[in-house]
Amino acid sequence: MDSLAPTNFFFPTVNSILNGSAGLLLIWGWWAIKQDRRDLHKKVMLAAFGVSAAFLASYLYYHFHYASVRYQGSGWIRPVYFFILITHIILATANLPFILRTVFLAFKGRYAEHARLARWVWPVWVYVSITGVLVYFMLYIWIDPSLQQPSLSIPDLLPKGT
Ligand code: HEM
Repeated sequence: MDSLAPTNFFFPTVNSILNGSAGLLLIWGWWAIKQDRRDLHKKVMLAAFGVSAAFLASYLYYHFHYASVRYQGSGWIRPVYFFILITHIILATANLPFILRTVFLAFKGRYAEHARLARWVWPVWVYVSITGVLVYFMLYIWIDPSLQQPSLSIPDLLPKGT
């Protein structure tokens, strides 16, 4: 790859929606199992898994093709932003094999082991989903208006070149 295209807002926006959806599905799936609605739990958790897989594909595509955006905030918020970003990335990466094992155990019908592992995997996954959306808001939405893109019409949101 010779050079990266300038950044765009399409992928970060899509990624953030996928992250937020995963978080909502995880909470729904947790509620379902607490009601002992196992079939609903299975469907909703697999939807969370699918949405997170789509996020990962889109995230990797974006970072391989577009320049990253630098965080503009200064003062106390800066270390807060980097704490959120770094814990988000480390926990997302570290959780992946455990998510796969959680799903594997469920499909094998090893529910006691599934539940034991899920008690750790689930909160970490929720944290990763919420912080993913937070990072998006801190990087693109809650910024100094003078640094903001002049307009965010639909064409601006679409990827330009590769
Ligand atoms: C990665 C996706 C999944 C996550 C994060 C997840 C998470 C959880 C959690 C948090 C619990 C409750 C643990 C507790 O007792 O506190 C649970 C229980 C359970 N899950 Fe999942 N789950 C996932 C996928 C699945 C799938 C695909 C199935 C079915 C094939 C399934 C079937 C069950 C069953 C039957 C229980 C009840 C276990 C018991 O209490 O004996 N789960 N899961």
